[in-house]
Amino acid sequence: MDRRSSRQWWWHGAVGYEVYVRSFADANNDGTGDLEGIRRRLPYLRWLGVDAVWITPFFPSPGYDHGYDVSDYLGVDPKHGSLADFVRLTGDAHELGLHVIVDIVPNHTSSAHPWFRAALTGRDDPHRDFYIWRDPAPDGGPPNNWVSHFGGPAWTLDPASGQYYLHLFLPEQPDLNWTNPAVADAFDDILRFWMERGADGFRIDVAHGLAKDPWFRDNPQLAPVTPGMDPRAAFDRFEHRYDLDQNPNIEVYRRWHRVVAPYGALLLAETNAADPVRTARYHDGGDAIHRVFYLEIGWLDWQPMQLRDRIRGMHLAGPDSTAWILDSHDTSRAATRYGGGERGAHRVLCVKTLMVALGGMPVWYQGEELGLENGVIAPNDLTDPIATRNPGAAGRDGARTVMPWDGGPTNGFNDGATPWMRATPRRAAETVAGQRDDPTSFLTRHRALLTVRRTLPDLWQAPVEWLDTDDSLLMACRRGTVVVVANLDEHDAMLDLPEGRWRPVFSSRTGAPTSGTVTGRIGVPAETGLVLAEAL
Ligand code: GLC
Repeated sequence: MDRRSSRQWWWHGAVGYEVYVRSFADANNDGTGDLEGIRRRLPYLRWLGVDAVWITPFFPSPGYDHGYDVSDYLGVDPKHGSLADFVRLTGDAHELGLHVIVDIVPNHTSSAHPWFRAALTGRDDPHRDFYIWRDPAPDGGPPNNWVSHFGGPAWTLDPASGQYYLHLFLPEQPDLNWTNPAVADAFDDILRFWMERGADGFRIDVAHGLAKDPWFRDNPQLAPVTPGMDPRAAFDRFEHRYDLDQNPNIEVYRRWHRVVAPYGALLLAETNAADPVRTARYHDGGDAIHRVFYLEIGWLDWQPMQLRDRIRGMHLAGPDSTAWILDSHDTSRAATRYGGGERGAHRVLCVKTLMVALGGMPVWYQGEELGLENGVIAPNDLTDPIATRNPGAAGRDGARTVMPWDGGPTNGFNDGATPWMRATPRRAAETVAGQRDDPTSFLTRHRALLTVRRTLPDLWQAPVEWLDTDDSLLMACRRGTVVVVANLDEHDAMLDLPEGRWRPVFSSRTGAPTSGTVTGRIGVPAETGLVLAEAL
């Protein structure tokens, strides 16, 4: 199929699914997930009903940040397979009607990348200016007060040249200098390389980080940082006025928009701007990023009022451009954040019922469809640098344990080799095999929700009309011939339906379509999502 000729871009109405490559499926049984493992599981994703698979970085990498420290943007790390595997994967995906999204990391490289190795050889090296170097402050310390997301200052001294280099993450992840046109040129080529091999789009890592304040001014400090504080809490003690979310970022993505347009490829950006309006501006009226993540929702525990306000606020600012997530490989799993157990998982599906009706692109994280909570890992087995380099910090490992396919020794992740991260195996009831044929399971209900979305396109494309409700935690909207409801309240609530007869087609509690039609005022059980279709 010539992807360039399609009138409507493939991502309209699409639902994404994040695969954490290390932990999804390990075909060669070496303990680490690989592209071939993903290829073999594509029929599952088709069956589930998602449309696009975002695969976390599989490029050669020393692995200090589990692949987000890239040492070669044009290759596949042998532990994840080969370029030929990637081409086979995209080929099979396309045959199944699935799209493949590559996770590109433009804010920083690995310190092992040849560009950085060259930059370290001296101030005159042509690659020196690929990175951000500054002389020490007058006292010999770091040039400004910026801190790393992963703990400590965002600057590390290179003793040979006497200059500091910037890293918003680990010292092994030096930030690229996006004011250097050669960096932008290099990334144009990187994007084309993957599109030529079948990539249908890019998830852009730390998309809000590329441009920095030209004067490298200190960030305003909001509260003191105390010793032993979790690095992410310490990071939040600053207003990131000068290191993140600078306007020139959008210029980079306008340029990328022109690079990907001939291929019909998607730009899906990880932006971490708290303000919905600032988040939505990455879309730039359709000239830059196509779909923009709003991570603020993904950090929340079960706080229904904040959840409601953030959903409404983001929907208002980016009704068609938002990528809606509750979970990712960077957060504690939503079912855990929402209180755990059946109740936590129910709450997740309640919110997701609304999210599939909000336009933009809902993106699910592997295992969410099983109602998974965080995996259990012994303290000595933690691997995330946030945890291993900051004693006492929680880290992100809990969301990264292997995908439970069945009740076998490694939950069907592979043929029995110890997974790269040890964790307590999941119970059979938490696995795909344990839920697939159970009509009431979370998996069955998630799948039913996607079937409803496919069969009722009004759900994601008709104009949105928010409905007035008596209960402020009852969120309801009408989209053409469909009404979607999420009762975030711990009490049952009543909803006045728009005029006409309505047929309940999905409930987050039962999944299966209920028979009959309803009119007028209906009861919505506590913490439940519903979809109703207009009855003819
Ligand atoms: C993004 C990734 C995260 C990574 C960080 C640095 O936030 O999702 O996993 O650690 O960027 O690349």
